[in-house]
Amino acid sequence: MKKYFILLFAASLLLFTQTSCNRASANKKSVTWNSLEELVSQMTLAEKVGQMTQAERGDIREGDIKTYFLGSILSGGGSTPAENTPEGWVDMTNAFIEESLQTRLGIPVIYGLDAVHGNAIVLDATVLPHNVGLGAIAAGDSRRGAEAAYSAGFITAEEMLATGVRWNFAPVLGVAEDIRWGRTYESYSENVEIVTVMGANFVRGLQEGGAAACMKHFLGEGQTIDGRNQGNALLDRAGIERILPPYRAAMDAGAISLMPSYSSINGIKMHESKELLTGLLKEDMGFEGFIISDWAAFIQLSGGSFKAQIANAINAGVDMYMATNGRANWMMFITLLKDLVEEGIVPMERIDDAVLRILRFKQSIGLFDAPLTKKAGTVGSDANRTVARTLASDSLVLLRNENNVIQKLPAYRNILVAGHGANNIGMQCGGWTTTWQGMHGPVTKGTTILEGIRSATEGRAVVTYDEDGKADGNFDVVIAVIGEDPYAETQGDRASLITGPDPDHVSAEDIDTLRNRSNQINIRPNDMDMLWEAYGYDCPVIVIMLSGRPMTIGDEYLHWDAFVAAWLPGTEGAGIADVLFGNRNFTGRTPYTWRKTINGEILYPFGYGLTK
Ligand code: GLC
Repeated sequence: MKKYFILLFAASLLLFTQTSCNRASANKKSVTWNSLEELVSQMTLAEKVGQMTQAERGDIREGDIKTYFLGSILSGGGSTPAENTPEGWVDMTNAFIEESLQTRLGIPVIYGLDAVHGNAIVLDATVLPHNVGLGAIAAGDSRRGAEAAYSAGFITAEEMLATGVRWNFAPVLGVAEDIRWGRTYESYSENVEIVTVMGANFVRGLQEGGAAACMKHFLGEGQTIDGRNQGNALLDRAGIERILPPYRAAMDAGAISLMPSYSSINGIKMHESKELLTGLLKEDMGFEGFIISDWAAFIQLSGGSFKAQIANAINAGVDMYMATNGRANWMMFITLLKDLVEEGIVPMERIDDAVLRILRFKQSIGLFDAPLTKKAGTVGSDANRTVARTLASDSLVLLRNENNVIQKLPAYRNILVAGHGANNIGMQCGGWTTTWQGMHGPVTKGTTILEGIRSATEGRAVVTYDEDGKADGNFDVVIAVIGEDPYAETQGDRASLITGPDPDHVSAEDIDTLRNRSNQINIRPNDMDMLWEAYGYDCPVIVIMLSGRPMTIGDEYLHWDAFVAAWLPGTEGAGIADVLFGNRNFTGRTPYTWRKTINGEILYPFGYGLTK
């Protein structure tokens, strides 16, 4: 018995220290509080509404955080400090937090961003395979997949904390069921079980690494008609239940923030669905964390005015608004929400509930106790790149291997490497890298597929590179790298481009460009030209595909002696050569059903892949 008293005393001593520590750190001023509930009761309406407001780093001026009590700042895709280094990020985030500590209550601001495949926005950070590739690992072996997701989360957290950022708008828990959806690569798979295992393990890795996850985008984003991003999904109760396991598992793994989807279910926008955000998520599923909206998502809602849209979303259960349509917009949000409360349209109880959830989140990630980052860390370490390279290797899926040509690779002495993707870090990484949409070319530090092949065959083979596949000479084999241009979100849609995405998201000329693209996810014209050059050599052709989803290749594969899906492998392209020339088995399997054309004949079923 005595032992338990000692434990109990130690625990209460710890609790007192913790509480007093909370009081001291968050209340340098006269205000003291013993619990978050008590803190909320001390807050003015302006302080409460400020906590519910998130602004983009480019939309605030010095003094705004202090004047408006802003609760959170974010980086949108590609939004970096002038010095895009860990030191530059720590200086920026610390400055925001220090300003928030100067407010009456000293509640620290929380900084968030999308580190969806490593903290890829930071120059020369380790960029991991996108989720589609990690899903390919899981489709081959669920346990290896779980380990891969955990490692991805842990490394991502390390390289986030190195920059002073603790909150990650990840993982995507959507189950992509139509590959025309531009966010297919952010999903792990069409298979609910894979998404469930991968999402929960990513959350565990991320949070055990010291950062906080944000489950997204709740709910039904992968079930929209024709795969249209932000479209409408027709789901009955059973259809909703079927896609809930990833969220239940991620909550069990400790995730306590969540982002609704822009999309709708049965014509009701998720951001204003009280039935699903409050009824299902907060009440039935017992979600005690907080709901952050998506980017300026309120302006898509019903109500006919921004004020009505705010009321609809907050009363539905959204707790913080990502108010990212400029400085005037977040200021307008604050003014209108205060008016809504004073007019009784948004009850104070709803505001108090939202603020308490936000403060609970901040406390749980230690923001009250240690709000500032003492010293910038490093990104892109050799150790992390080694893990990323292994994940790239493990994600490869061998779909075709005629006459065991892969096994013959190490014996070849004259190799032609061709294709725009062969020497292209940006194409390996895809969207959500140093820029939102991603870009071709040497966007950040890493190794290309070509560099990996040269290194793996050094002293054994002559490797010639010609992007167009037009080099003179006699070759033992051609390795042709094809794939998708980088993209993110609606810009990656291949179904909705006929109608065009929301003009507020994409400029008029971009819409024309996007509409001109085929609504097939087919091989790009310059890749086709290169392939026909490659077929002209009297030797086998091995095709490697860099894509965020299965591409619609028709019967073109019949010209290919071997075909490897590499997905979006990230910065460590050398991981591809490790398998091709390493006499290693292929462990990945396709996480998506692969059809010859959109909704056409199945070429490779879900889970297919050769070992060698
Ligand atoms: C984007 C995405 C969301 C992301 C947010 C902040 O529009 O839909 O996934 O977390 O904005 O960048």
